[in-house]
Amino acid sequence: MTTHARTERLFLRNWSMTDVDAYAGIVADPEVMRYIGDGKPRGRGHAEAFVRTMMRHQEERGWMRFAIEHAASGHLIGFSGFDEKDGRLDFGWRLGREFWGGGYGFEACSAALWVGRTSFGLTGMTAQSYPENAGSVRIMQKMGMSELAQKQENGRTLVVYGFPEDFPRGFDA
Ligand SMILES: CC(C)(COP(=O)(O)OP(=O)(O)OC[C@H]1O[C@@H](n2cnc3c(N)ncnc32)[C@H](O)[C@@H]1OP(=O)(O)O)[C@@H](O)C(=O)NCCC(=O)NCCS
Repeated sequence: MTTHARTERLFLRNWSMTDVDAYAGIVADPEVMRYIGDGKPRGRGHAEAFVRTMMRHQEERGWMRFAIEHAASGHLIGFSGFDEKDGRLDFGWRLGREFWGGGYGFEACSAALWVGRTSFGLTGMTAQSYPENAGSVRIMQKMGMSELAQKQENGRTLVVYGFPEDFPRGFDA
């Protein structure tokens, strides 16, 4: 199993099919999915398809939304990392609820950013969030991102964050 980074409490690593059950538990939680897309929880089929897609990406290009493993317990607790979305490099994250509020989100995202940049040469990533998802917006700010734009999706406002130095000619949402 390829490990991309080790932080104080976490591993960022590749995915395997043995992660499907744990990931299905995370996306079945309505609180976790509240600020994602239509806000609805997802079933096991979605989780399995997601893990398969991540495994294809790690095989083909090495980077993806990295699996986050809690080092002390060995549990899969979520993901942080990158995907292509609407022609952009999207930086996203998702943790199981029992791991919120303890600094794991920022710890994982900082490591994912470092891996993306140093191991895979990724630049120009953006992250988007509903502004009311305060924890997510705070993670963007703590990583040094700033608000580049706002856009509408499903009749709701989304904020788009990124590193302004990656967009010297400005950002076109
Ligand atoms: C967003 C998420 C990853 C945050 O994870 P976390 O481990 O709780 O985050 P951290 O503990 O590292 O906190 C990071 C910062 O956000 C703040 N924060 C976290 N949750 C918060 C909340 N609900 N309200 C306000 N601030 C919050 C923390 O206080 C911390 O800021 P500080 O260092 O200035 O005090 C987690 O809540 C999650 O997975 N949510 C569901 C999925 C999701 O919404 N993903 C993003 C979609 S855009």
